[in-house]
Amino acid sequence: MAAEPTLTTVDHVHEEGSFLFTVADDYGVTQEVILVPCEDGVEAWHNRCTHEDFKLDRGFGVIYREGEIVCAKHGSTFGTCSGFCDNGDAKDTTLPSVEVACEDGDVVLVDDGYTFLHEGAEDDDDGDDVPGSTSNVGF
Ligand code: FES
Repeated sequence: MAAEPTLTTVDHVHEEGSFLFTVADDYGVTQEVILVPCEDGVEAWHNRCTHEDFKLDRGFGVIYREGEIVCAKHGSTFGTCSGFCDNGDAKDTTLPSVEVACEDGDVVLVDDGYTFLHEGAEDDDDGDDVPGSTSNVGF
């Protein structure tokens, strides 16, 4: 079994406020994920508001208000530890989660549904490590 990919460190997420990376599901569909501080550890959520398909981290980190993740489009906020929103247009929804674990201060991806692609946004890939227009993924 391959080693689980190390994403970053718990300290880095707490110091920087968040960490953005990109994964692919079993069908090759890419998904941006944010790591955010939660108590002494971290949680991982899809980088899309549940109201509309709007990125919570648009390339310069997650925005927080009173300790909650803020959607900059209409202002709903989501709990960093629960992903739940109790206000605004996204009320009564929860951000989809991605399973990560903290191991000796490192954050590792342990979600069987996703494969780590790279740090940063979907379009941050430098094209060196995944196929582009010559992809062999069939539809
Ligand atoms: S898109 Fe996030 S609250 Fe509307």
